[in-house]
Amino acid sequence: MADPLLRAEALSLHYGGVCALRKVDIEIMPAELVGVIGPNGAGKSTLLDAITGFATLTSGALTFDGRDIRHRRPSERARMGVARTWQTLQLFEDLTVSENVQMAVPRRSKAFGTVLPRRDGERKEPDALARLGMDRLADRMPGELSHGQRVLVGIARALAGDPKLLLMDEPAAGLDGRERDLLGEILRDVVASGTSVVLVDHDMPLVLGICDRVYVLDFGAVIAGGAPGEVRNDPQVIAAYLGTDEQGTLEESLSTEGAR
Ligand SMILES: Nc1ncnc2c1ncn2[C@@H]1O[C@H](COP(=O)(O)OP(=O)(O)OP(=O)(O)O)[C@@H](O)[C@H]1O
Ligand SMILES: [Mg+2]
Repeated sequence: MADPLLRAEALSLHYGGVCALRKVDIEIMPAELVGVIGPNGAGKSTLLDAITGFATLTSGALTFDGRDIRHRRPSERARMGVARTWQTLQLFEDLTVSENVQMAVPRRSKAFGTVLPRRDGERKEPDALARLGMDRLADRMPGELSHGQRVLVGIARALAGDPKLLLMDEPAAGLDGRERDLLGEILRDVVASGTSVVLVDHDMPLVLGICDRVYVLDFGAVIAGGAPGEVRNDPQVIAAYLGTDEQGTLEESLSTEGAR
């Protein structure tokens, strides 16, 4: 079996007195689509921050592509092929769609720390937009776009650097059913092209419908992991959602998954 692209072992992360991650073990294989679900405040965004280097681990081991990345800066991790999208999209409102995508391409260099001038032949941003059917919107300003189109700009921006691993924080929030289906197709295409994806989302039908494996976080700890079918029926998962707003969503996903 292939080595994992990302291996996280016993990741713990404290924000002052808050324990946001508790000995989290996860593995992401090459070209695998892995979902991360869990109630609000479970630590999902913190896990993405820990992988990208935006939050500092209290303890644990983190390897990417066979290398220890725990002490590498976020920019170095980006150059190695780790990309993310944000829960709040974070587009540059005064730049065009094309410029937004272009801005985010990390310069790859053989020697870490060297910023390389980009040669024309290396421009990936038109490709990334075209891949998502967004090239006709390249010269628009983000403010002119629908929410669904803005989400796609965020994804194009992350894909423009040709990442090995794409981490996505709630991309389906605010999308309608058709846009959500399109997002699912895009993510399966991204994975088919060889990029691994970690999908954090509250949209259970989407996550359980398209992911190869799913991890469930609760109070910073992984309480379940496995194929969507196993996770959906896990008593601990069902218990974690009881008493939260998401109980209905989980139950709904049981009944809607076959209908999609
Ligand atoms: N910068 C921070 N400083 C202090 N505490 C934080 C910070 N970021 C997150 N937390 C706390 O860490 C815990 C995990 O938060 P996190 O944002 O990772 O959850 P989440 O699973 O992404 O939730 P949601 O589904 O609402 O996005 C929460 O208790 C949160 O209040
Ligand atoms: Mg979050």
